[in-house]
Amino acid sequence: MAILDRVVTLRDAGREVLSLCAGEPSGGAPTDVRTLAGELHAGGDPLGYTGPLGTAELRRAIAGHHQRWYGLEIDPGSVAVTTGASGAFVLAFLAAFDAGDRVAVVRPGYPAYRNLLHALDVEPIDIAVGPDTGFRLTTEALDATVAARGPFAGLVLASPANPTGSMMSRDQFAAIASWCAGHDVRLVSDEIYHGITYPTEGPGATSRGTCAWSLDRSTIAVSSFSKYWGMTGWRIGWALLPDDLLGAVDALAGNVALCPPTPAQRVALGAFTERSYAEADRAVEVLAAKRTFLYDSLDRLGWGPVAPVDGAFYLWAGIRGQLGEHPSSTEWCRALLEDEGVALVPGTDMDPIDGGGFIRLSFAASMEVIVEAVDRIASFQQRG
Ligand SMILES: Cc1ncc(COP(=O)(O)O)c(C=O)c1O
Repeated sequence: MAILDRVVTLRDAGREVLSLCAGEPSGGAPTDVRTLAGELHAGGDPLGYTGPLGTAELRRAIAGHHQRWYGLEIDPGSVAVTTGASGAFVLAFLAAFDAGDRVAVVRPGYPAYRNLLHALDVEPIDIAVGPDTGFRLTTEALDATVAARGPFAGLVLASPANPTGSMMSRDQFAAIASWCAGHDVRLVSDEIYHGITYPTEGPGATSRGTCAWSLDRSTIAVSSFSKYWGMTGWRIGWALLPDDLLGAVDALAGNVALCPPTPAQRVALGAFTERSYAEADRAVEVLAAKRTFLYDSLDRLGWGPVAPVDGAFYLWAGIRGQLGEHPSSTEWCRALLEDEGVALVPGTDMDPIDGGGFIRLSFAASMEVIVEAVDRIASFQQRG
């Protein structure tokens, strides 16, 4: 956040800053979503509350999306429409865990999991992943965590992940899901980066991502319109809920926010047209070209280890060899911003223990910005 504040200040002062911090695609919502939004607002609909778990129409459409992508038959009654994936986590954690429970999270990982768990008096248990496993969680790591720290009630996992972009193969994910089932651990699967995958290489080769519900319906599968469809600000997502949690989430949702945003629910239907899928897939192709450029720039930058970017739009890279006089990536990022006007996210946000040696670079920015940023980073590093 300090880096983002500084970006704003520098830009206000007239500096040209290249920001590779954004966790959002730049293109915005698909055409059919925008068209629906225009019609909706012109039509004078009062846009009142809906049911706490969303409109029947959107719940059906989301079930249809699971049929399309994963070949899954899902009862629309198991779908909860939520205020983004973020809203789904609050509801899922409240329903699935009790104060005093312990829930495992992967480090590096998306910071909101641990922060939300803390806020609910649930203790997050870190499981470190690194280059030895391609930054992917393994059942061996789960066994080792139980042996060292005792049992836990849940596991929150994203594949593809933020900040690493690493993704598990279906077999690897199935092994994790079956380990959870065998240890009475509730798996919460964050599927928000599904669809933003790079099928030419890596274990996710032919996959949009593995939906946890294709493995075990006692898991909670969370997803969102934010990333693949580029609809971050619309604040709309969903969760697939096991039968034993459905009633609790229904009751909680009505109390937490009454219902997910009605305008966003109505226009989100436009995300499931052929044209919208085609536009979103085209945006993924553009991301893939930027990913290739970054891979090709790694030797020049001297960064490593680098997590495999199987999906999402982040490069998680070790920069220890480039830190020079700077004690950690926090100071290094600050200096890079001041000297060269390039903003990256220091790894400490996503990994409080080892993140001082890493940065996260988001390649959601344009190719021109990325090419220029790499040049500036290279000259910053050359000066030491
Ligand atoms: C891994 C992960 N999960 C969830 C979210 C939150 O997404 P939403 O906009 O759907 O609330 C983000 C946002 O960056 C994310 O990176």
